[in-house]
Amino acid sequence: MSKVTVVGAGNVGATVANVLAHKDIVKEIVLLDIKGDVARGKALDSWQQAPVDYYSTQLKGTDDYADTAGSDIVVITAGIPRKPGMSRDDLISTNAKIVTSVTKSIMEHSDNPIIIVVSNPLDVMTFAAYKASGLPKTRVFGMAGILDTARYRAFLATELEVSPKDIQAVLMGGHGDTMVPLPRYTTVAGIPVTEMIEEDKLDAIVERTKKGGGELVKLMGTSAWYAPGAAAAQMVEAILKDENRIFPCCSLLEGEYGLNDIFLGVPVKLGAKGIEQLIELQLNEDETKLMNTSAQHVRDVMEVFKGMGI
Ligand code: NAI
Ligand code: 2OP
Repeated sequence: MSKVTVVGAGNVGATVANVLAHKDIVKEIVLLDIKGDVARGKALDSWQQAPVDYYSTQLKGTDDYADTAGSDIVVITAGIPRKPGMSRDDLISTNAKIVTSVTKSIMEHSDNPIIIVVSNPLDVMTFAAYKASGLPKTRVFGMAGILDTARYRAFLATELEVSPKDIQAVLMGGHGDTMVPLPRYTTVAGIPVTEMIEEDKLDAIVERTKKGGGELVKLMGTSAWYAPGAAAAQMVEAILKDENRIFPCCSLLEGEYGLNDIFLGVPVKLGAKGIEQLIELQLNEDETKLMNTSAQHVRDVMEVFKGMGI
């Protein structure tokens, strides 16, 4: 009997709603956008797909927050995406205001939702939603790590000519070019990846992964949506089914990894209560250095956000 709201009915938001509907695990999905007719149109289109693809999830498009009342989970994708030549951080002045106002409107109609942030710059927008919501840290987190890890896994699958299903990996840090892939924790069906691939090829894949979002922006003129939408829907599924899946998610750190008061991607256990456990890996010296560099980058963007006085 669950209800999920997706705010922003653009490329990513519409994909989240559509992928989630196909999982057939939600009673109702509300798709909200300031462009109400677009949200209504996409929700109606997805609903008309239900008899063909065989799901019961109802979809409703709207521009009225009253329709979001009583949401169990809210996915925030509202905001502008980057265009070629822009970094995710260039989006902050527009998206910080949008994410803050969206979160406040959501909280007027739902008592204790779990909020999953997708809007960029992701780590700082997750902080913005956390601050605006007043919810505990276990109920506000961001999607980026599943996507970044999926890109890394997909590149490895292509190079090794194996199924992406057999690549297990974890990627940490901020959602930007300073993200921290961890080859030491990457396996191919349980075999350490370093036994399957030459070092220079692995290094090239790590570098391509770090710039994976930008590669797609160059190709399409806007940012990606299929893999991001599926990744956010996978998080919703883990929560609704209380699966205790282990995913890298953008989470508030309070001393873990030696970092404080910062949202950053780390492995967590996702279940019915949101973040059930934050997992602290024993990083080596090089990995710790990369994590600290990534944290510093996110802190620089945080300063811009704090300067906005929202
Ligand atoms: P889009 O432009 O296709 O859709 C954004 C939608 O947000 C538009 O329909 C717009 O009308 C709506 N919107 C703007 N202000 C709003 C408000 N105040 N209330 C409700 N809706 C509002 O953009 P796209 O491609 O869907 O990307 C959305 C965001 O997600 C961007 O910030 C993008 O950078 C980010 N993103 C993050 C990823 C991640 O891994 N965390 C991956 C892909 C995108
Ligand atoms: C991505 O990585 C733009 O953050 C988005 O595709």
